Amino acid sequence: MTPYIGKSINRVDGVAKVTGKAKYAADYFAPDLLYGWVISSGIAKGKITRIHTGEALQLPGVVQVFTHENRPNLACFDIQYKDQDAPPGSPFRPLRDATITFSGQPIALVVAETLELARYASSLIRVDYEEEEHDTALEDNLHRARGPKSGVASLLKSPPPKPRGDFERAFQAAPFRTVGEHHHSVEHHNPIELFASTVVYEKNGKLTIYDKTQGAPNSQLYVAQVFRLPFKDVRVISPYVGGAFGSGLRPQYQLFLAVLAARELKRSVRVSLTRQQMFTFGHRPATVQQVALGATADGTIDAIRHDAIGQTSRFEDYFEIVVNWAGMLYPAPNVKFTYQLVPLDTFTPLDMRAPGGATGVPALEIEVDELAHKLGMDPVELRRKNYTDRDMNQDLPYSSKELHECFRQGAGRFGWANRNPEPRSMRNGHTLIGWGMATGIWEATQGPARAEAVLTVNGKLRVTSATADIGTGTYTIMTQIAADTLGMPIEDVIFRLGDSDMPLAPIEGGSWTAATVGSAVKVACEALGKRLFKLAQKMENSPLARANFEDVVFADAHIRLKSNPDTAVSLRDIVGLNGGRAVSETSTSLPDTLEQRNYARAVHSATFVEVEIDEDFGTVRVTRAVTAVAGGRILNPKTARSQIVGGMVWGISKALEEESVLDHQFGRFMNPNLAEYHVAVNADIPDLDVIFVEENDTIVNPLGVKGLGEIGIVGMPAAVANAVFHATGRRVRDFPITLDKLL
Ligand code: MOS
Repeated sequence: MTPYIGKSINRVDGVAKVTGKAKYAADYFAPDLLYGWVISSGIAKGKITRIHTGEALQLPGVVQVFTHENRPNLACFDIQYKDQDAPPGSPFRPLRDATITFSGQPIALVVAETLELARYASSLIRVDYEEEEHDTALEDNLHRARGPKSGVASLLKSPPPKPRGDFERAFQAAPFRTVGEHHHSVEHHNPIELFASTVVYEKNGKLTIYDKTQGAPNSQLYVAQVFRLPFKDVRVISPYVGGAFGSGLRPQYQLFLAVLAARELKRSVRVSLTRQQMFTFGHRPATVQQVALGATADGTIDAIRHDAIGQTSRFEDYFEIVVNWAGMLYPAPNVKFTYQLVPLDTFTPLDMRAPGGATGVPALEIEVDELAHKLGMDPVELRRKNYTDRDMNQDLPYSSKELHECFRQGAGRFGWANRNPEPRSMRNGHTLIGWGMATGIWEATQGPARAEAVLTVNGKLRVTSATADIGTGTYTIMTQIAADTLGMPIEDVIFRLGDSDMPLAPIEGGSWTAATVGSAVKVACEALGKRLFKLAQKMENSPLARANFEDVVFADAHIRLKSNPDTAVSLRDIVGLNGGRAVSETSTSLPDTLEQRNYARAVHSATFVEVEIDEDFGTVRVTRAVTAVAGGRILNPKTARSQIVGGMVWGISKALEEESVLDHQFGRFMNPNLAEYHVAVNADIPDLDVIFVEENDTIVNPLGVKGLGEIGIVGMPAAVANAVFHATGRRVRDFPITLDKLL
């Protein structure tokens, strides 16, 4: 029996969040805290010839202005440190020298006794530049595209699969063909919490750092390596994250600057970025993609080509999976995939919810829709016809794949059977109505992680792991797993995370945390259970003295005989007889068992969308959407649904609104604020319908979970674009689909 897993438990951190008790990186104080203000470069490329700081420094209360000219020799600028999400290349470090490599580059840090003063002082600083020509336009530089440098370590960053069969021949021979070029704009992360680091300088010179991050140990690793500090002297704490979804996978430059200032001044320092400055680091890269499909008259897809060119910076080769999905979704025997990069004078791109999947799958799924149109076939039927239970890239069977059921239940709920396939066939006066659908896919991965489980002297279960909760519900599902594993009432279980002193866990990303940290929590609690059982047997007159571990269950805070549940010892009594000491166990869970390696593992979805388009104005509204997900075991339907809803919202936002506009004359993003960088708001989002189809998977990991953080966004952009085509007859392959593209 599992009393908590599978139930819609409210977020255990919800009260702290809605009452303001939850503290974020910029909420922490320290005695004599100093405030840093970052000055950003006004040019995209060139050199600083002079930086005039005199006037600012004369202001009482301004402590220092750090620039490349006076930066203290505290950090390594040359070693190739690795953060857990670093692509190959040489990571950017601020204040290294006079060179400017991207617009908005941090070129100085003003440190003052108050934030207002630091900000005002920054306005007195003038910078002379020697400008050089910059290149920020991907589309003008496609001829420079080249393969990414190797050396990518991160999970989910595999290179394009090898070609199979003979694409050219099969494509030429195919009676039905589609070819399309797809464009995705740059998008920037806009979590509500801005990036910030509060560095507390302790009396002994140690640092306690409150950082906005998706992995406290990752920030610790970064600071210790770059500043040549022993790990034990750097503690990073990040119990709450106000949204991240990729932006916190790498340490951001405010962390470097705050640590530099704190170490030099021997004082605590906080550096927060502004909303504008959030547009000066990693972003979802712009891509130009080509997808070509060839099919026989009965709808068998015989040939697939997917080529992508993405942007990167001059100093790192950011890499994501854009073109691999076709080989995972469709069984075509003749395929060819290429992925290339163009280095530009911008910051290195960065993972953003379903990196690569949210751009690559839409390109593929739009062409599949176009093929269905040309074949005169229903888009769901075409996908059913080209179904595979194997990942063709790895040539392995899926551990489970209930995508057929996603199609069936999603289409049923949406009423897809009533669709008139003819474009422009559905209207209400001047309003065109369109129905579109698309498939989604994302890998179900697991990494290694550690967790500690403690039964306290008060009989409470406390479990810790240095993971993060970026809003996804990690606190809650880990509490559920721990409670069930040891049969404890959930009120007596506390799960803690976000501290580099805790047992190591990887950055929270890639939708792997439920599987990764969940497995660690499970094995730690199981180990603790074994310890407690042994202690119980040693108790005087123990009723369990002669029992085997297989004979007992953990239920309502007792260890009970399965054959006679009244024969039991309470966990509280066990710990009470442990000499007044808590009982604890720390365990590691490792992925990639031999059995797992014989299977491909992925989460699937089908998304159905209705749009209404004003024929005169070209404005698109999504009026209905259903996503059916095959995501393995659902630990908590409430937090799970929220993940899918969040992904769907972002998918609608990506499809219709989000776009960072570069002015190539200045090499600068021109809409770095929430007024001009449009994101979907409440009024843009209808009721969203989420279905979890049943999917039992005993292979993917011991919990049977697949991770839901990213899958919600993957299918949405193509479903919207396909609905727009159905409404208008206009095939838009250029995101976001703004009204100018429909007039
Ligand atoms: Mo996600 S883009 O791996 O936070």
